Amino acid sequence: MTNIAGQTVLLTGASRGIGAFIARALAKEKATVIGVARSQQGLDQLSAEVQALGGCWLGIKYDLSHIKDLPNLVDQIEQIAGHIDILINNAGIEIYKNFQDYSTLEIQSVLTINLLSGMELTRLLLPTMLRQKRGHIINIASLSAKKGNAHNSIYCASKAGLLMWSDSLRQELAGTGVNVSVICPGYICESGMFADTGIPAPTLAGTSKPTDVAIAVIQAIKQNQAEVIVNQDLITTNFTKILLAIWQIFPRFGDKFYQWIGVTKLNQKRAANQMPVVFKTIENRTIVGSKSD
Ligand SMILES: NC(=O)c1ccc[n+]([C@@H]2O[C@H](COP(=O)([O-])OP(=O)(O)OC[C@H]3O[C@@H](n4cnc5c(N)ncnc54)[C@H](OP(=O)(O)O)[C@@H]3O)[C@@H](O)[C@H]2O)c1
Repeated sequence: MTNIAGQTVLLTGASRGIGAFIARALAKEKATVIGVARSQQGLDQLSAEVQALGGCWLGIKYDLSHIKDLPNLVDQIEQIAGHIDILINNAGIEIYKNFQDYSTLEIQSVLTINLLSGMELTRLLLPTMLRQKRGHIINIASLSAKKGNAHNSIYCASKAGLLMWSDSLRQELAGTGVNVSVICPGYICESGMFADTGIPAPTLAGTSKPTDVAIAVIQAIKQNQAEVIVNQDLITTNFTKILLAIWQIFPRFGDKFYQWIGVTKLNQKRAANQMPVVFKTIENRTIVGSKSD
């Protein structure tokens, strides 16, 4: 059982949504949390909360699409806070579209934030963790990593990549003292990218609270769990695992199931509700992308 108290945790996507809940849960465990996100306001809001809950906090405003500058970010963090014990790759974005309507830059953005930034941060932090023979990488994937869904294919690909990279890395690092866990939440209500859309989840899909994800992260660290599905409750989670196993053998049964419970229709609705939004790309050129309203 790993004790989290006094450990230094680098948490991406810490400014809001699930990341804020993870930061609070880590604070209760008396960790030092280094939160990374673009919103200074979101990071500042968490600062007081984390400290009131018993944790230490350092917020760093940073856009993770700037992959080439990540070594500088890591240097800066290590100079201020020393070595990182736990890395939680939580930052994520999604863009709902028919596949042929994505621009190359939109595809790059989703893959960069959801997959490449976590890989690169891990690559930069791993040598120190290996020297110290201890560390933990936590990747926040999704149930979309286990079964794809229509009109959100890039997000699903990024999360499947995160899941399989975690699976490989866990085996590669076995016996080194550095652990790897991947968390796969289903629909999350109350806060986060899905709740923000205001569209209800399909009744039969199950929903969880952001606190459930935060609890799962804490347990995964303490018990060194390999892969954790978070979907409503234990019964729904176990039922989901059985369905996922069946869909390995009969993938089209899974497709029909998603159509039947309304996942496909929901995604169609979200793809139709995309609002154009201007965002910066990894090359720092401004382009018009899209975001669910
Ligand atoms: N909500 C769900 O239903 C659900 C389900 C399964 C998995 N997940 C996963 O859980 C994780 C957290 O999602 P969430 O629901 O909390 O989403 P969210 O509310 O949209 O928060 C996303 C976080 O990522 C940060 N972020 C996005 N782009 C960034 C960038 N370029 N640079 C730095 N930070 C960036 C955001 O901060 P700034 O905007 O301030 O930069 C924010 O803190 C994601 O990986 C998501 O895929 C969510």
